[in-house]
Amino acid sequence: MKNLIGITAAALLVTIWGTQAAEPSEGAALFKKKCASCHGDDGKGETRMGKRLGAKDYTDPKVLAELNDEKAFTVIKEGLKEDGKTKMKPEGDLTDAQIKALIAHMKAFGKK
Ligand code: HEC
Repeated sequence: MKNLIGITAAALLVTIWGTQAAEPSEGAALFKKKCASCHGDDGKGETRMGKRLGAKDYTDPKVLAELNDEKAFTVIKEGLKEDGKTKMKPEGDLTDAQIKALIAHMKAFGKK
């Protein structure tokens, strides 16, 4: 019986840890891993891929002002196509919380 409680407690801890991981710091890590190849570590989009695809400068307040949470969410989840060309592939394996952390991370670009 004691053992069972121990296992349950451990499983609960893992669950809590997993939920808490989707914080802005995770947004930063995810962004680096999955998004920086186009958008750049700094969000300016000054990478080879970013320039070719026309990634915007997300440190520019005007660009940030147009960053709409809902649209950003859809784009990150389902990808972005313009004129039949894929600009961004869907990131279907991200959780909603991770996507929100990514958007929060992008919004903070202008404040650096
Ligand atoms: C293959 C290159 C590429 C990758 C990788 C990429 N993006 Fe994009 N993304 C683009 C381009 C190009 C645009 C369109 C121009 C712009 O808004 O910068 C865009 C647009 C966006 C937008 C704006 C959507 C809108 O119109 O409001 C968001 C938000 C975004 N990307 C987030 C991300 C996140 C988060 C990741 C990582 C999970 C990511 N992108 C990975 C190329 C990429």
